Amino acid sequence: MSSQSVKIAVVGSGYVGLVAAVCFAEMGHEVICVDNDERKVAALQGGDTLIHENSLPELLERYRNTKVRFMTDLAEATRESEAIFIAVGTPQSETGDADLSYVEAVACEIARSLTTYKVIVEKSTVPVYTNEWVRRSMERNGVAHHLFDVVSNPEFLREGTAVADFLHPDRIVVGADSDRAAAVLNRIYLPLTSGEYYERDGFIAGGCSVQEPPPLLLTSTKSAEIIKHASNAFLALKISFINAVSNLCEATDANVEQVARGMGLDSRIGPKFLRPGIGYGGSCFPKDVAAFRSVAEQLGIDFNLLTEVEKINTHQKKRFINKVRSALWTLRGKRLGVLGLAFKGDTDDIRESPAIDIVEMLLGEGCSIAAFDPAATVRTEEVLPSGPNLRYVNDAYTAADDADALLILTDWPEFAKLDLKRLYKGLRYPIVIDGRNLYDPHVMAEEGFTYLSVGRPAANPVRDLTAVATSR
Ligand code: UGA
Repeated sequence: MSSQSVKIAVVGSGYVGLVAAVCFAEMGHEVICVDNDERKVAALQGGDTLIHENSLPELLERYRNTKVRFMTDLAEATRESEAIFIAVGTPQSETGDADLSYVEAVACEIARSLTTYKVIVEKSTVPVYTNEWVRRSMERNGVAHHLFDVVSNPEFLREGTAVADFLHPDRIVVGADSDRAAAVLNRIYLPLTSGEYYERDGFIAGGCSVQEPPPLLLTSTKSAEIIKHASNAFLALKISFINAVSNLCEATDANVEQVARGMGLDSRIGPKFLRPGIGYGGSCFPKDVAAFRSVAEQLGIDFNLLTEVEKINTHQKKRFINKVRSALWTLRGKRLGVLGLAFKGDTDDIRESPAIDIVEMLLGEGCSIAAFDPAATVRTEEVLPSGPNLRYVNDAYTAADDADALLILTDWPEFAKLDLKRLYKGLRYPIVIDGRNLYDPHVMAEEGFTYLSVGRPAANPVRDLTAVATSR
């Protein structure tokens, strides 16, 4: 079967919506991306990608105002499309539940302009039963049940590699309770599932190929909703597990990298998401673990395991502060260089960033900080303005300059390739406390650093420090 173009509307131009819109165009579909924020729409029409994401500027340039049109008019987008993907925010409410008011508002608005059959697709991460609520809202707004189906098609992309993840997914999950709706989703994803996309000129490279195209897993709508939450919760659990193991390693002088490697070689466990650090962050894991826990609670299911996952995650940041204290004795008045503010490398996203939590805790302890991030400074300044104790600087070496210690808080690849001799000369004391295990402790000791990392024995300088101090 050859691929056909499908008319698609994507509602919401955040990470998931914008990436889905340009990737659907790249797959050959005609896309309208709707957002109620006029300024965002104007910016996207003008070619501003709004987010820092590999391959996004190229794709946006290729399809902007042709195969991807941006507009604020959801009614028009609904009328013109066969499938409408809802990709609006589902923020965390005070109780930990996902706040579904944006999803509901979009469903009601779609209902008002719907006259022919449409497939309404949940792309945002939503709790199980949301599809039923969307269906109920449509019916309450007078739409006959034969005029629509609600499908769950969760997204598994990661920030930083979002475009490649979208076009080369491990799996495509389609939760559909009707054959008609499943057929539309099958058509939309056919360029990927048939492998045809991976033979086109100039396709975006990634893990899939014509020989190994991604599988499309067809499930019930509720199963698809649970697959998304369960996957994120499981990945968060894996991170908290290795963080707890790293604490055990620290207490016994074992090395968590060796332990993680030994565990990960078991094909049932696998090596991914076993990197210890300062805890997970971002717009997904913290929110999704809380929402999944809350769904379980409402259904009377004991899922306290997730509470433990969250506890370990919070504790990991406090342990890092204690590590800084253990290296510097007291914290008040100490000058610290900080590398990294984003919640992980290769993104300018600072939502729920453990790095920012740690900076705030250190400021609270009376430290003064010079911070550098390759992409996230502007966003951080909006929530944490510079002041007498906080400066944002333009490179890693300036952050380290005359500092009592240098802290590594985000795993940007460039932070793993610093000129150690230059760093050594710039620091007031050659102390590096690495929350992301970017360096080999032996190399750091050889280069004269006191080096503390996560779950690995502390490394102390091989050279004589007194000699170093006098030679400065
Ligand atoms: C995550 C999932 O990986 C995606 O599959 C999912 O689609 C997405 O959430 C979502 O629900 O939208 P993302 O938040 O972009 O993607 O980031 P990850 O790469 O998963 O990292 C999340 C956090 O875990 C980061 O703070 C990262 O530093 C931390 N992490 C990750 C670790 O501490 N250790 C690891 O081994 C891996």
